[in-house]
Amino acid sequence: MTTPLSLGILISGGGTNLQAIIDAIERKDLSAHIRIVVSNRSDAYGLARAQRHGLSTALLAHTDFSSREEFDQHLVTLLHEHGVEMVILAGFMRLLSARFIQAFPHRILNIHPALLPAFPGLRAQRQALERGVRISGATVHLVDEKMDHGPIIMQAAVPVYPDDTEDSLSARILAQEHRIYPAAIKLFAEGRVVVRGNSVRIRDERHWPQTAFQSPAAV
Ligand code: GRF
Repeated sequence: MTTPLSLGILISGGGTNLQAIIDAIERKDLSAHIRIVVSNRSDAYGLARAQRHGLSTALLAHTDFSSREEFDQHLVTLLHEHGVEMVILAGFMRLLSARFIQAFPHRILNIHPALLPAFPGLRAQRQALERGVRISGATVHLVDEKMDHGPIIMQAAVPVYPDDTEDSLSARILAQEHRIYPAAIKLFAEGRVVVRGNSVRIRDERHWPQTAFQSPAAV
């Protein structure tokens, strides 16, 4: 028996990861409620996805605030007002301040389109192509005060082919993101994540490689 997690999802764009999380909840694969979806951009298509599923949404334009701290303080207040326990960054293109991170200790997740610690930062898929790696992938990690750095929860690997473009590699990685993001959130809903410094132990994880290479049902 798991307690439904109260999620706040932050987006800036298309929201396909948001959609994957909504779908996992609706299929009852993931025991969670999305309390609010917040975008910092009015043109984020993810807002329409959320509204289509009857979810509360908010637009918090960073351009309306004089500093990162002021923006983040409003964001924390908004998330608290909606009873959010866990913050899910799903293509949210803003760095968060230390104050924001401290407001949700070990309760902010991000997904990054590379196998961290390789290729942090922007355009990770292009970085992977330019470096000539044969394998890349996606990483779900807890957010700490350094960019794309916190404890790793789940990863999935994909091959990189010689004729890949940034678009073709991004699409292959994105399909894995949609698989592992809901599965990683589910580990929190099940209370199975134990953080030890900068690494994580998953309780009752008998077959570790399955998390990377098989379906979430096997996790
Ligand atoms: C994904 O590639 C994710 O890894 C990165 O931003 C992108 C968001 O895509 N952090 P979407 O908005 O979920 O479609």
